[in-house]
Amino acid sequence: MTVEHIQRPSVSTSDKDHVIIFDTTLRDGEQSPGATMSFEEKLEVADLLDQMGVDIIEAGFPIASEGDFQAVAEIARQTKRATIAGLARAIPIDIARAGEAVRHAKSPRIHTFVSTSPIHLEHQMKKNQDEVLEIVIATVTQARGLVDNVEWSGMDATRTPIDFLARCVEAAIKAGATTINLPDTVGYTTPEEYCAMFENLRNRVPNADKAIFSVHCHNDLGLAVANSLAGLRGGARQIECTINGIGERAGNAALEEVVMAMKVRGDVLPYTTNVDASMLVRASKLVAAATSFPVQYNKAIVGKNAFAHESGIHQDGMLKNSETYEIMRPEDIGLKSSSLVMGKHSGRHAFRKKLEELGHQLSDNAFQDAFERFKALADKKKHVYDEDLEALIDDQVTRSADLIKVEALTVIAGTGGPQRATITLSVNGKHITKECTGDGPVDATFNAIKAAVDHTANLQLFQVKAVTEGTDAQADVSVRLEEDGRSFTGRGTDTDTMVAAARAYVGALNKLMARRAMGKSGVLAAG
Ligand code: KIV
Ligand code: ZN
Repeated sequence: MTVEHIQRPSVSTSDKDHVIIFDTTLRDGEQSPGATMSFEEKLEVADLLDQMGVDIIEAGFPIASEGDFQAVAEIARQTKRATIAGLARAIPIDIARAGEAVRHAKSPRIHTFVSTSPIHLEHQMKKNQDEVLEIVIATVTQARGLVDNVEWSGMDATRTPIDFLARCVEAAIKAGATTINLPDTVGYTTPEEYCAMFENLRNRVPNADKAIFSVHCHNDLGLAVANSLAGLRGGARQIECTINGIGERAGNAALEEVVMAMKVRGDVLPYTTNVDASMLVRASKLVAAATSFPVQYNKAIVGKNAFAHESGIHQDGMLKNSETYEIMRPEDIGLKSSSLVMGKHSGRHAFRKKLEELGHQLSDNAFQDAFERFKALADKKKHVYDEDLEALIDDQVTRSADLIKVEALTVIAGTGGPQRATITLSVNGKHITKECTGDGPVDATFNAIKAAVDHTANLQLFQVKAVTEGTDAQADVSVRLEEDGRSFTGRGTDTDTMVAAARAYVGALNKLMARRAMGKSGVLAAG
């Protein structure tokens, strides 16, 4: 169901600061266990990121494999606008390889990193702070000899003593780093702490104004986006992020979330980016397909439910004014419209609107009947799709004029046999109950109907289809009866296939009886 949105006043961007968007979907994102992309998929993702206005694409880790090297090199050759970065450890051969991979880019960058925290120095690197400082100087100098654009990252910066971090940052800038990235590698920091770290470093490092500071946050505590935005408050002007928030462990800050936070809350986040937000849904779908990583339903911005409303109160509000329950317009991120999902929480207002959209104008009584049947269906079935509602209305229309109605049905089926059905029909307002066995539950049900309403028609067709997908889908049953060379077809739908079958049979029988009534005496024989 589509919802009309009222126009929001546009927010002036003149006094906002610009933030560089550095996408690492192809590097940190691809490092998620199981998220490996093929060469072609990487090129496709890079092309979309470039079209979308991402400023820097970290295309991979060239030393990691020949495949990674080739992908970075090809992306560097093909990308029209964005800067292409290749990652390198603080090892000369890594830096040389990264330099070679990005060499053909219009705007190449080498991104080199080294651990700075005591825990990494002691257990992983087995080096002291002075040795690490020497490495920072040597590696940045080497990278600057290959390209003009060098990013240096202090891995595990948020668990590094600020004095040592300040020394490293100063040395990296002095050696030629143009961007200083201070990652929250293990997703440990908090917004206040991260903001203060940037403020502190930018105040105390004498050459801080010679480089752009960058945030890179992991989501182990679910704070990656909040921390990234806090880093901007502390003076950072580059955000490293990934589409759908994919990345090591719990992932990285999600690009779509940081971009939309700045767009929607420009009043408190006075920043702009070059990203065309209307391509976010496309990018999300492409990355989900390329990595085979599904997007969680309730994922902010791009999740399936991010613009879907099921509760009656919310649907009612949305129909009156979308701003009652939506803070951004679906078109802003490239979605066609919001959707009102019909389910057990939906109210009359939304149900009537949905029926109108499907082309059904019902009288008050018919609407009430349909609404009750819809609620009963929604109680049994998780998702009520448009096809379910169509089937429900069709069923109601055919049944409204019927002389015979299915009032109750119980079927006992299983391996034991014989299968047994007990049916209560209302025939001309009179209740008749019959119990029969049969060769299977359908046969037993049809035998019971025959016992209740005597007739000689032959069963010509019995066909079952699922209206939608899933084990809770409604069964759509068609039955054709034949008498004196004439055929009569009935349809029944229900989440219970036996009930649908009984309704279909009775539907055909009603048509047959109506025909008889028109042609002959019209007397119904109740057995
Ligand atoms: O999380 C991290 O520290 C990284 C670095 C390589 C920048 O991904
Ligand atoms: Zn990372």
